[in-house]
Amino acid sequence: MTTGTSAAAGRGTLPAPRLPARHLPWLGPLPAFHRDPVALLRTAREQVGNTFAFPLLGQEIVFVCGPEAHAEVFEADETVLSPREAYRFMAPVFGRGIGYDATPEEMDAQIAPIRPVLGSRNLDAYARVMEAEVRAQVARWPAEGEIDLLAELNRMTVAIATRCLIGEEFHRRMGPELPRLYHELESGIRLAGMLSPKAPIPAFRRRDRARAAIADAIGEVIAERRGRRPGGGPAGLPGHPSDAAREQDMLAVLLAARTPDGQPLPDHIVTGILIGMIFAGQHTSAVLATWTGVLLMRHPEYVPRLRAEQDELWETGSRLGTRILHRMELLGNCVREAERLHPPLILLMRKALRDTTIRGHRVPAGSLVMVSPAVAHRMPEVFRDPDRFDPSRYGAGRTEHHRPYGLIGFGGGKHRCIGLAFAYLQVKTVWSVLLRAVDLRPARSAYAPDYSTFVPAPTAPCTVRHRKRSAGAS
Ligand code: HEM
Repeated sequence: MTTGTSAAAGRGTLPAPRLPARHLPWLGPLPAFHRDPVALLRTAREQVGNTFAFPLLGQEIVFVCGPEAHAEVFEADETVLSPREAYRFMAPVFGRGIGYDATPEEMDAQIAPIRPVLGSRNLDAYARVMEAEVRAQVARWPAEGEIDLLAELNRMTVAIATRCLIGEEFHRRMGPELPRLYHELESGIRLAGMLSPKAPIPAFRRRDRARAAIADAIGEVIAERRGRRPGGGPAGLPGHPSDAAREQDMLAVLLAARTPDGQPLPDHIVTGILIGMIFAGQHTSAVLATWTGVLLMRHPEYVPRLRAEQDELWETGSRLGTRILHRMELLGNCVREAERLHPPLILLMRKALRDTTIRGHRVPAGSLVMVSPAVAHRMPEVFRDPDRFDPSRYGAGRTEHHRPYGLIGFGGGKHRCIGLAFAYLQVKTVWSVLLRAVDLRPARSAYAPDYSTFVPAPTAPCTVRHRKRSAGAS
């Protein structure tokens, strides 16, 4: 399925209906969008339909919803609907000529060598790092009390992403600094950034300083590794729990990669790709893990069944691995419900480079096409009783989630997330260990999404009560 071509775009098509104008023409529904974009888009969809247009900060937005529309967007040719032009505002994080600041061909070439790093061959080694990091963080918690769940899970995913992707030297050198630096990098992507990524606002200055600090430290590690082993490739750290992962960290692979003319990738490209991967995968995973925990606290009736699954599959004292984690079906379905009800990325975008059509509606060149996993996942036409937490919807006899482009928390088509398996493995490992190690109870009456950030987590602090269980101490 593809979007209509520009030649066909004008014939036999309708303009997308416009949202009723209750706002200033240039500003659009900005205040409501800023406060709660999901509520705005969801209500508008119910009132106007699956396709509508509105202005936002002078930019024409065309919002589309539903599996068929998603297919047209995700499968569109990049010369028609461009992710690169839509996500250009991320260039200050990735760096010049990297990711969305590169041509589509260059971006493909940058991603190609790292796909296998995140593939099944390496996941077992990563699972060991993940388990070790979750255990290490939990060991620091007192026997009982209150924790900020999001902050704790962020600490775990920072350590995991850093060790698996950039490597042990970098983690040891920068360890305590990293949660703050990654947070400043991530907080520097806001709605304002879509309009003017270089505006002199404090969050952008902090973002740029954080990126420079991370890039300098990665640069030193690259220089050391290149110096130690001219071909790239890390030396081992005997006895370290991540020896196996170290052989496959992403930095090692990028140092060994070659350009089409046989040259090593330039250091700044290697650095930018690594920062981009951390940016894409670290906080998103922490947010998905946090929502999984919040949903389980709201639905404690699932906890005994989840613990029974753990006991059946994972002997106390033995090591977790991909084989066991893949068999944790109920846990996997709970994570999938978290992805459905609270997708970490609530807005996916493409810029229309030419006049085109989506589902028979005209999309003029220059429009920003928006898809929202958060709105799409609550469509009653796709998911039965969509607001209900129901892990059994993925079980035998239910087929709603098989509908192509229905569940789109990791996107779809050519640009579907390359870190999906890594992210699921990580979130399942986190909860596998935590379910055994602690009892958690809510410390607040509600955990509402914080839409002021690009990846909405529960509003900070995400305080929960915990008590360590003796059975999970192993
Ligand atoms: C819960 C965690 C994650 C979520 C929810 C998530 C979500 C997404 C989504 C929705 C897209 C598609 C964007 C679009 O089409 O506009 C995407 C793309 C991508 N993700 Fe993830 N992601 C996660 C974890 C990761 C991890 C762990 C990595 C790598 C270590 C990663 C690397 C990427 C990359 C490189 C792309 C771009 C692929 C391309 O354009 O070809 N993500 N992700």
